[in-house]
Amino acid sequence: MPNLIVTPNTGELAERAAAWIASVIRDAVARRGHCAMALAGGNTPAPVYRLLAHIAGVAWPRVILFFGDERAVPPDDARSNFRLVNDNLLSGLPEPPARVHRMQAERPDRDAAAAEYASLLPAALDLLLLGMGEDCHVASLFPHQPPLHETQRRVVPTIGGTPLLPRLTITPPVIREARRVCVLAAGPAKAAAVTRALEGAEDFAAVPAQLARGATWILDRAAAARLSGAVTR
Ligand code: 6PG
Repeated sequence: MPNLIVTPNTGELAERAAAWIASVIRDAVARRGHCAMALAGGNTPAPVYRLLAHIAGVAWPRVILFFGDERAVPPDDARSNFRLVNDNLLSGLPEPPARVHRMQAERPDRDAAAAEYASLLPAALDLLLLGMGEDCHVASLFPHQPPLHETQRRVVPTIGGTPLLPRLTITPPVIREARRVCVLAAGPAKAAAVTRALEGAEDFAAVPAQLARGATWILDRAAAARLSGAVTR
């Protein structure tokens, strides 16, 4: 069962999510001395990252940052997930993280870039942050695409999304093995996808977000509007 947090609006969603992430980082650092955390792209996390940068008491030099997916664009491109994180989180931090592992999805040999990135990932991420699209994709795992069936490789090339671009993405084993997973979704356009992900018949090939069914889901009221009581109680 998911851990469901429903907030009244997107502003409070950002505050709750930033506070939740900060507490998971503190917990991982206290238990294991570091926190390996993979971040999401998309619009929803940007205000979360801005708030997170200013939460006191986060040991950033103990944090190792990864990405769940990246578009095949240079790191300074407006469509780059690295740039999103750089502009909204890294640029506001009091101290830099121990390491930031950018996915180099713009490299011509994306298979090699994927394999090299997989070799950097820990066996289990301490925290994986995901956004979800209206088509129920998470990271760049799009419905009915081959990466959903990966059991060995942990990072693979793919193509899809908005903007429609070649990408690198983590695969289902990375989601399943992560210690903590958080999905963020806001707005009425996500309401049907949230319901399919959390209450729909199991079919992760059609509904990739079901891979994160056991995660912490932080929603605004609009995104949660079509859930029955079953999950919210
Ligand atoms: C990407 C993302 C993607 C995103 C969702 C939700 O690079 O496109 O990582 O999985 O999180 O599409 O995006 P929004 O937050 O913009 O709705």
